[in-house]
Amino acid sequence: MKFGYLADYPEFVEKIAIWFQAEWGARYPERSLEDWQGQVYLNKDHLPITLVGFEEAEDGSKSLLSTATLRRGGMDIHPELETWLSYVFTDPDKRGKGYASSMVIEALRFAQEMGIKFLHLFTRTNGNVYRRLGWIDVERTEYKGGPVIVMSRKLELTLSASTAAVIRGLEEKSYSPSEMEP
Ligand SMILES: CC(C)(COP(=O)(O)OP(=O)(O)OC[C@H]1O[C@@H](n2cnc3c(N)ncnc32)[C@H](O)[C@@H]1OP(=O)(O)O)[C@@H](O)C(=O)NCCC(=O)NCCS
Repeated sequence: MKFGYLADYPEFVEKIAIWFQAEWGARYPERSLEDWQGQVYLNKDHLPITLVGFEEAEDGSKSLLSTATLRRGGMDIHPELETWLSYVFTDPDKRGKGYASSMVIEALRFAQEMGIKFLHLFTRTNGNVYRRLGWIDVERTEYKGGPVIVMSRKLELTLSASTAAVIRGLEEKSYSPSEMEP
C-alpha cells in the first residue's frame, strides 16, 4: 500500500465522491455528487488535506484502497476540539484487510509531522479500528440522526506498545512504509 496526497492523484476524486454518496447520501439527501466532490480536499500544505492509500500495478496503474481527511472542526457540538480525522473510508470490496488501519496510521504520522498534538474523530462504527490504534473513547452521543462515538488521540513522539504491535502486525502483512513526501 502506498500513500499520498489526493492533490497528487486527482483522478481518484470522482470515485471517492461516489463512495461517499452511496454510504452517506441518505443522511445528506440535499448533497449532489458534485457536493460530495467538495468534501475532499486537494491541499498539500494546509488543512483540510485529504490523503489516499492505493496499490500500484506493475504497469503503473493505480487502484484506490482507502482515504482519510484531516481538517479543522468536525462536529458543531464540539467547537472546542480543533483538528479532526474525518471521512475514513475503504473500498467496499476490500474491507477487513487492514487498509483503514494503515490509512489511519499514516494520517497519524502525517498529523504528527505537521505538529498537531491532538486529533479527534466521531464514528458510527464500533470504534475498534481506532481503539486498537490508541484512540480513546471520549463520549457517546446522538448526532445527526444516530448514535456516534467521539474519540481522541494524543500524538506522541513515541508510539505506545499497543500501537507499535498493530504496526508490526501490518508490516508482517507487507505494509510498506510511508512513501509520502516529508
Ligand atoms: C470502517 C471502515 C473504514 C473499515 O475499513 P477496513 O479497511 O475494512 O478496516 P480494517 O481492515 O483496518 O479494520 C477491519 C475492521 O473492519 C471489520 N470488517 C471486516 N470485514 C468487513 C467488511 N466487509 N465490512 C466492514 N467491516 C469489516 C473488521 O472486523 C474490523 O473491525 P473489528 O476489529 O471490530 O472486527 C470501512 O468499513 C468503511 O469504509 N466503512 C464505511 C465508512 C465508515 O463508516 N467510515 C468510518 C468513519 S469514522
